Amino acid sequence: MTPLQGKVAVVTGAAALLGSAIARAFVQAGARVVAVDIDAVRGEALAAGLGEGCRFVACDIASDNALDALVAGVLRTEGRIDCLVNNAVVYGDAGLGAARADWLSALNVNLVSGAMLVQKSADALAAQGGAIVNMGSVGGKFGAAGRALYPAAKAAILQLTRNQAATLAPRGVRVNSVSPGWTWSDALSRMADGDRARADRVGAPMHPLGRVGDGDDVAQVVLFLCSDAARFVTGADIPVDGGFSMLGPDQGRSARDWFGAA
Ligand SMILES: NC(=O)c1ccc[n+]([C@@H]2O[C@H](COP(=O)([O-])OP(=O)(O)OC[C@H]3O[C@@H](n4cnc5c(N)ncnc54)[C@H](O)[C@@H]3O)[C@@H](O)[C@H]2O)c1
Repeated sequence: MTPLQGKVAVVTGAAALLGSAIARAFVQAGARVVAVDIDAVRGEALAAGLGEGCRFVACDIASDNALDALVAGVLRTEGRIDCLVNNAVVYGDAGLGAARADWLSALNVNLVSGAMLVQKSADALAAQGGAIVNMGSVGGKFGAAGRALYPAAKAAILQLTRNQAATLAPRGVRVNSVSPGWTWSDALSRMADGDRARADRVGAPMHPLGRVGDGDDVAQVVLFLCSDAARFVTGADIPVDGGFSMLGPDQGRSARDWFGAA
């Protein structure tokens, strides 16, 4: 018996590397996955690769009508929703120079759409004593020059998670977040020219475990939070960042070390 046998999980942003790792981990744990993304080409390819345990649904999560159709469709075909993973994101961020329309569209996808999906699937999740995982980020915890939209949304997600957890606890639904550090993804792969060893080398000073994360590192913690092993965990954020967020600006080295190296 695998830990999530018979459960149904909805994962947004499932077409890209990290989301597809989460979808794959759910299937391997025995769940049926509804993989949701706006990118139908990659989404269909993912579902074809994962076989019977995964169905792809093309959906723009910024549309309420699309979210209504998504939830109704999942309940019609799968009969239940046990787990919801709000993972979809857009990264565009002009920082101080962002126009109001940029702010609203970034927050719409990165924050509000996940909140609307929680609203629309809350009854179904409550019927199963289900679990929600919202995707945070180290980017929502620390200052970063030149960025505003993405970190503001990620910081808000950590707070929203606590509010959703408090609201839904009486209905038996647990809500938690995970906050990855740098994770091997389409964006990181582009920055590293597809060279994973280079990404690990560049990322090592920020990640005491000496490498960037893999999608499956994040996926395993998502699975844990959705499983019965986490039955008394709600409103929590779990960093999946190789130690990134336990460090201060001194990167864990003493003043003596810094002076020695200066
Ligand atoms: N990659 C990292 O290093 C990293 C670090 C910390 C946190 N995260 C978090 O992990 C999650 C996944 O990040 P990623 O790097 O894989 O991002 P990504 O851009 O590679 O993938 C995001 C996915 O969301 C989909 N999407 C975007 N807008 C959508 C919409 N309106 N409707 C439906 N789908 C939509 C995209 O098509 C894409 O498949 C995000 O929540 C991100 O904040 C990533």
